[in-house]
Amino acid sequence: MNRDGVIKKCIELGPWFHNIDLGGISTRDIAPSPGPQPLDHPVPRWLKIKDVLPADMSGMSVLDVGCSDGFFSVEIAKRNASRILSIDAQRLAIKRLRWVKRHLKLSHITALAGDIYKFHKGIAGLDSFFIFVHKGIRFLRRKLRPGKVNEPIYVARRFDLVFMFALLYHLKAPLLALEYLAPLSDILLIETLVVDDEQNSYLQYVAPMNGVTTEPKLLPTTRCLKDMLRWAGYEHVMEIADASDKRPIYLAYKEGADLSGWRLPGK
Ligand SMILES: C[S@@+](CC[C@H](N)C(=O)[O-])C[C@H]1O[C@@H](n2cnc3c(N)ncnc32)[C@H](O)[C@@H]1O
Repeated sequence: MNRDGVIKKCIELGPWFHNIDLGGISTRDIAPSPGPQPLDHPVPRWLKIKDVLPADMSGMSVLDVGCSDGFFSVEIAKRNASRILSIDAQRLAIKRLRWVKRHLKLSHITALAGDIYKFHKGIAGLDSFFIFVHKGIRFLRRKLRPGKVNEPIYVARRFDLVFMFALLYHLKAPLLALEYLAPLSDILLIETLVVDDEQNSYLQYVAPMNGVTTEPKLLPTTRCLKDMLRWAGYEHVMEIADASDKRPIYLAYKEGADLSGWRLPGK
């Protein structure tokens, strides 16, 4: 597609929340979404993690949940991750990412419209069918062998990494969302808005602010976020970026998680 064609498509699909480099043309230079985000959004947040993530992600499968236009999925794809599943509740964002993926020839990205609260019903393709069959088998087993009920639930997919940036504060049931994610991977890289408080564990209700947000938010204290991550099933929580800008980043991982290739602070 020539330059004019790319610009035309970019305008047609926009406005864009993420600034994605389409090869000399950047989406937010052409059609930025309104809001307080800078034109290079989310590059400043990418800079906080780009040296922490494995430089070569070949062989890794990654779930990017709440991916929006897919900036992070694209960067991860450029590091040769073998499979990236990018999910967002907004169909138009997924449409933008699908076009980016085709334009940049990143066939290892799969972009799906989906809701984090439906993950336990399967997150792609045949998952819901397999879950249905699995539930049937469990039901029959319980009938035949009453008492043996503690079998593991079917896990729809497994990923080497779940990537969850700027999503938790959009959710009404943040702990439930973390619980749905935890069986999918041993490793979660999470960034979210917090109240910077290490002593007290609570969720603070923040009312919508005129002209900035239309929905209220539930913001955890830093202590509460760590408590919820542990409660959801991650034994370890490591700080990657601090909460001085109210947007910390944590690497939450389970005992025995494979962290080879990660360049972690203090290691
Ligand atoms: C602030 S954007 C963050 C986008 C990107 N992860 C980032 O860090 O720049 C939040 C995204 O989460 C998506 N989202 C909100 N609720 C969701 C839900 N229940 N399930 C899946 N995605 C959701 C929104 O559509 C939006 O694209």
